[in-house]
Amino acid sequence: MNSAALVVSPQAKAAAAAAAACAKSLKAISYPGPPSNGSPTVSDARCRNGHIVTYGARNTIIYSAPPASLVPAGELLFAQNCSSCHGQNAQGGAAGPPLIGVGPATVNFWVTTGRMPAATPLSIQAQPKPPRLTAVEALKIAAYVNSLHPAAPFIPTVNVKAANLTDGASLFALNCAACHTITGAGDELAYGTNAPTLHGFTSRQVAEAIRTGPGNMPWFTGNLTDAQVRDIAAYVTEKIQHPSNPGGAGLGGVGPVAEGFVALLFGVGGLMLICFWIGDRA
Ligand code: HEC
Ligand code: HEC
Repeated sequence: MNSAALVVSPQAKAAAAAAAACAKSLKAISYPGPPSNGSPTVSDARCRNGHIVTYGARNTIIYSAPPASLVPAGELLFAQNCSSCHGQNAQGGAAGPPLIGVGPATVNFWVTTGRMPAATPLSIQAQPKPPRLTAVEALKIAAYVNSLHPAAPFIPTVNVKAANLTDGASLFALNCAACHTITGAGDELAYGTNAPTLHGFTSRQVAEAIRTGPGNMPWFTGNLTDAQVRDIAAYVTEKIQHPSNPGGAGLGGVGPVAEGFVALLFGVGGLMLICFWIGDRA
């Protein structure tokens, strides 16, 4: 054997060490679910200083870690707004669950939808409300929580331009309409909980909801590919939030049965008026 083949260049050594660190980081942040169904994989992850910073694909969803430079500011915001319930180091307490390892998308979702900071501890279901913190503050807090224990899912950016809205419509009907209704208006669920309206949310928040399963919503990690999540998010933000109502007035999207009833009421009612009028003249 040629001994020269055993000599490893410093560059090759450094590259091997970086690859090992990246693989470790990938293992540390990965979450259940088959590869390419929203979990990071070796092939779609990008690494910096031994840490995964983004994963995913440009034409579907890119998941990004909040920048490490935001951690100190996030720590301060956390102490001011969150630690009273979630504990000084996010370890959890009597008034709130632990946030260690929940992943940046979960933190970002709960803060940008206004669920957090909660108004009252331990309600049946934290309600979305106008957010008290800004999007940048949410990102800072996500950076701090992620620094305690890096975890996926990272914060998604959805390429809605590449979406297939027809697929989005059928995927929505199949996976979401049972709870949120076909028009996305939301509905009551059991035990005083409800599936909220889907109007007024961004494609990022829709993808975060699907990938993190907030509260009583199921966790779709593993069931839906990133392309499918992209199609649903685009359908919600482009079609559900801007219905075109083919064939006339939307009637508030009350649904085919109720809309048929409105047609009966005015159609048959109108016909009866005409009958009375003809009858009168006879
Ligand atoms: C008044 C107490 C309170 C405050 C303040 C509060 N939380 Fe919460 N938080 C809760 C409770 C209770 C839950 C569980 C609610 C539920 O499941 O509906 C929760 C749930 C969460 C979750 C979801 C955890 C999971 O595993 O799904 C996140 C993320 C979160 N909080 C982040 C924050 C952040 C960030 C702040 C500060 C900006 C904050 N919370 C402030 C009480 C609080
Ligand atoms: C089993 C019922 C159920 C199904 C199925 C379901 N959801 Fe949800 N969804 C919920 C509930 C409950 C919440 C509120 C969670 C909370 O606040 O505790 C929610 C919250 C959301 C939110 C956040 C809205 C807000 O008010 O902040 C979005 C967005 C969302 N769902 C989208 C979807 C999409 C898209 C699908 C299909 C892929 C889906 N959901 C399927 C029950 C469901």
